[in-house]
Amino acid sequence: METVLAYLRDHEDRFIQELCDYIGFPSVSAQPAHRGDLSACAHWLRRHCHDLGLEVRLCTTPGHPILLAGTPRRKGRRKPHFLVYGHYDVQPPEPFELWNSPPFEPRRVGRSLFGRGASDNKGQHWAHLKAVEAYRRTGTELPCDLTFLIEGEEEVGSSHLSAFLRDHRAELRCDAVVISDTGMPARGLPALTYSLRGIAALELKLTGPDRDLHSGIFGGSVDNPALALCQLLAQLRDRRGRVTIPGFYDEVAPLTLHERKALRRLPFHARQYARFLGVPKLFGERGFTPWEQRTARPTIEINGLTSGYQGAGSKTIIPTCASAKLTLRLVPNQQPERTIRHVVRHLRRLTPPTVRLEVSAGHGAEPYLVSPTSGYAQASLRALRSAFGQTPVLLREGGSIPIVTAFRKQLGADSLLLGLALPDDNPHSPNEKFDLDNFAAGMRLGAHLWPELAAASAKTPRRD
Ligand code: BES
Ligand code: MN
Repeated sequence: METVLAYLRDHEDRFIQELCDYIGFPSVSAQPAHRGDLSACAHWLRRHCHDLGLEVRLCTTPGHPILLAGTPRRKGRRKPHFLVYGHYDVQPPEPFELWNSPPFEPRRVGRSLFGRGASDNKGQHWAHLKAVEAYRRTGTELPCDLTFLIEGEEEVGSSHLSAFLRDHRAELRCDAVVISDTGMPARGLPALTYSLRGIAALELKLTGPDRDLHSGIFGGSVDNPALALCQLLAQLRDRRGRVTIPGFYDEVAPLTLHERKALRRLPFHARQYARFLGVPKLFGERGFTPWEQRTARPTIEINGLTSGYQGAGSKTIIPTCASAKLTLRLVPNQQPERTIRHVVRHLRRLTPPTVRLEVSAGHGAEPYLVSPTSGYAQASLRALRSAFGQTPVLLREGGSIPIVTAFRKQLGADSLLLGLALPDDNPHSPNEKFDLDNFAAGMRLGAHLWPELAAASAKTPRRD
């Protein structure tokens, strides 16, 4: 172990350089114009893994390619097998003008590395890859087989990965999946995340007149789709932060007293938190703490809102249409399809006859909950402690990783969520960064994890 850790220390600068090259690819999965960049990024990654001596396959899908990179298998002795999951796609960088340096020209400032995808998720799985490089280059035998599965569609719902898992079930069958794509509650405080929220996305569009109209000549005699949309959206949530869609809370599993107590022990300062987010005051569902609100309660959010004239100055029109992109965050035991049905039914009921409503459902992901007391969970907690020199906490998270439920259904494997992101990493925001101390700790985690998990596997029957 010492030689592995020494290798990681000695080569850190090169690893950071390589990570900068990786971040340089604008692999924005949501934008069709970047299709070629995703492919180039995946090919670069394939080459890199190949040079590390991994057995590599780049698999095409109707969407973006999926990379598989496995440690070479030796015939005979069967070792435990773990999957390391990550994603090379990133969120759109817009608005560009709010970045202090260009999002795809990574910049190092002290112990921060700025760039879109630095934390979510390139930097995080890079740490695991480099830990495996250290094993290989120091001639240290890994106590398990590993397969890296790095996909390019996480940020758009992982829509092709689930079929891919089904088709490659035999070779991907594993004892557990390791994922570093979540966060830590505070610097220096590592965490094992045992629950993620699910998600359901939809877009709605209200159409009024068949063209933009002069608002003076016609205003007053026809409905305004932008206003109608605002009125509609305003009815989806009340002043107490409760979603007002009938049936929405039907399947929500209540928090146990035990969990509420545990969540209360996590670090939290309301005023600091509000200042950090730049809001004048916090807002959330009444009766719940902010940690509960953001990790264990469902929400509805408007992600984008579009209508009418957006250029300089004014233009007096009644816009022909107005649209909104919405997502709902779901908690156990809500289901994306069922929730979307509740929402659509409610929207139809609320839409006035003066406009036409179109709704299209987008990606969806189920919420995730896993036992934090399994042998693998305990083993990862030990590895976290060794890597960070600090006792880890158990965490629920509010974000979503769509594929985790498919890992369970298709491969029979639970996911160990060992996040390396800090609260101020700005994922999905301008000036995303990854903390280089966490990068180093993440590599140490990648070093300590495999002996711990391999030992745990000896005591855990594989689920088939
Ligand atoms: N890494 C995040 C998920 C995350 C972040 C989980 C922080 C827990 C804490 C992931 O890349 C992500 O952003 N997922 C999307 C999925 C969606 C677009 C289907 C999300 O949660 O919005
Ligand atoms: Mn993300």
